[in-house]
Amino acid sequence: MPDFRIGDTDFELDGQPFRVLAGALHYFRVHPEQWADRIHKAKLMGLNTIETYVPWNLHEPNPGHFDLTGRLDLERFLQLIADAGMYAIVRPGPYICAEWDNGGLPAWLFRDEAVGVRRFEPLYMAEVERYFDRVLPIVERAQITNGGPVILVQIENEYGAYGDDKQYLEALVALNRAHGITVPLTTIDQPTDEMLANGSLPGLHKTGSFGSRAIERLATLRRHQPTGPLMCAEFWNGWFDFWGSHHHTTPAAEAARELDELLATGASVNLYMFHGGTNFGFTNGANDKGVYQPTVTSYDYDAPLDEAGNPGPKFWAFRDVIAKYAPVPDEVPDAATPAPAFRAPADAVVPFWQVASALGESIPHRSIPTFDQVEHYTGFGVYCTEIDFRGTGRAPVLSIGEVRDRALVYLNRQPVGVLSRDNHDRAIGLPFEALGTLEILVEDQGRVNYGHRIGEDKGLIGPVTIDGHAHERWELQPLGLDDLSPVSEAFARSAAPDPEASAIAGPAFVRATVELDAPTDLFLDTTTLGKGVAWVNGFNLGRYWRRGPQNTLYVPASTLKPGANEIVLFELHAIPDATLTFVSAADLGHTEF
Ligand code: GLA
Repeated sequence: MPDFRIGDTDFELDGQPFRVLAGALHYFRVHPEQWADRIHKAKLMGLNTIETYVPWNLHEPNPGHFDLTGRLDLERFLQLIADAGMYAIVRPGPYICAEWDNGGLPAWLFRDEAVGVRRFEPLYMAEVERYFDRVLPIVERAQITNGGPVILVQIENEYGAYGDDKQYLEALVALNRAHGITVPLTTIDQPTDEMLANGSLPGLHKTGSFGSRAIERLATLRRHQPTGPLMCAEFWNGWFDFWGSHHHTTPAAEAARELDELLATGASVNLYMFHGGTNFGFTNGANDKGVYQPTVTSYDYDAPLDEAGNPGPKFWAFRDVIAKYAPVPDEVPDAATPAPAFRAPADAVVPFWQVASALGESIPHRSIPTFDQVEHYTGFGVYCTEIDFRGTGRAPVLSIGEVRDRALVYLNRQPVGVLSRDNHDRAIGLPFEALGTLEILVEDQGRVNYGHRIGEDKGLIGPVTIDGHAHERWELQPLGLDDLSPVSEAFARSAAPDPEASAIAGPAFVRATVELDAPTDLFLDTTTLGKGVAWVNGFNLGRYWRRGPQNTLYVPASTLKPGANEIVLFELHAIPDATLTFVSAADLGHTEF
């Protein structure tokens, strides 16, 4: 049987020194029909290993509802890596960070305040054990010693940036070992003495995460990992974007120089990311270090392979660097070809309020609940109450403890205004002597994935007052947007939009039909839209927002079919011209310079 171990100076594969040249590729950010293509292209750049996290919350969105199929078929992903003749690194968390909703931790874990997340606390450890019971057998079977590709497994993720509970790390190690994980276990930390000391255990192989100044960072790592190979297990060759920021890019030549400096030391590497992919659906995370910054839908990351799987400048620059140190295949990937550019008129529009009641059940509450309190963990919800300020001579003020994350306020279905977490909005004036039904459509824009705000409740956080008084008797309707059949039925009943009056006021569902001879990647121009969510043939492409920087949504060829394809938008604000525009290439927005 093949054997992979950590020697005194090197990783060793079957007794021979082996340099890990890995690239991160998250199966959950790539359409499953495209996995093999992306893996193959990693090999063409000269990589010998694919690294992936495992997102617990996507596999188990509700307690006990575990999914390992389709886009979550980790076993198949690992098999494709093996089929490509490559090795694999698996990072099952339980926490993964990764600009992923809640850093991969299921929101339901936080319902019980007694659960001590990311530390040695029995309730939390019991849930971790249940999760590992499902995932680790897949990793166990795929280990190199069992004929599979897996050579390394990581414990936790940058734990030293969060805590120092060694008993917790020991328990994770014990669970991995108990599940038959025999390959070497690693930890990763940002290269500071404190984080490296807090985030690891004797006996685990320590690695670093950084994107520059390799010699200095490896020297720090060496102080904590006196023997064995040095590894940058996240070489940050790009970066992510958040709504309202610029699109982060780095010159390929500069990134290649940093990679060269790293490889010249003899170190092993995992490029973070080789191919970033897409935060489809409502899976993006967020940061909040004083200002809430939700990550955009694209996870292009300015990586060597772009979001659509095409080689960018870093692919060629990195291939040249890697070729100095390791054999690189002669075969090269095809360059990107322009996607078809065309326009598709909206052919059906349904006001949101017309279908709202079919999208979920309203639950009455005395005082206002959060989404989490009604076990709604993602997407949108509608709060509703009756108000009567007749005869007061005043415009009442709606005041909310905290908005997580964006609230559209309506009185009798007329828009009043928006409260936004990233503006720290807390209060809004309602119309003079307001009377009638107050409805608040709230969007969870993605849970924080780093630091101590992970696990926060979403929705409206109390106290909620109107005109200075606690307001009771609310209803909360979680919106179920996984199944759009009520919307499809409403489209079928709707009259075709008037081409003369082509503007669409949101919130509304909008449909357009795209005829294709053959499936091909498309890029939906979102600069002509407001803010919302887009689906193609029922597949949730993710959020769009005029705010940018992201100006297009990636539509993978594998979500399309020959003939008619249905595009659906849930537009919250307004579309001035009810025609969808598809453009020839991705536009991820303005850069800093
Ligand atoms: C850290 C984390 C990753 C990711 C990067 C930034 O290194 O370990 O999961 O969040 O930061 O992209």
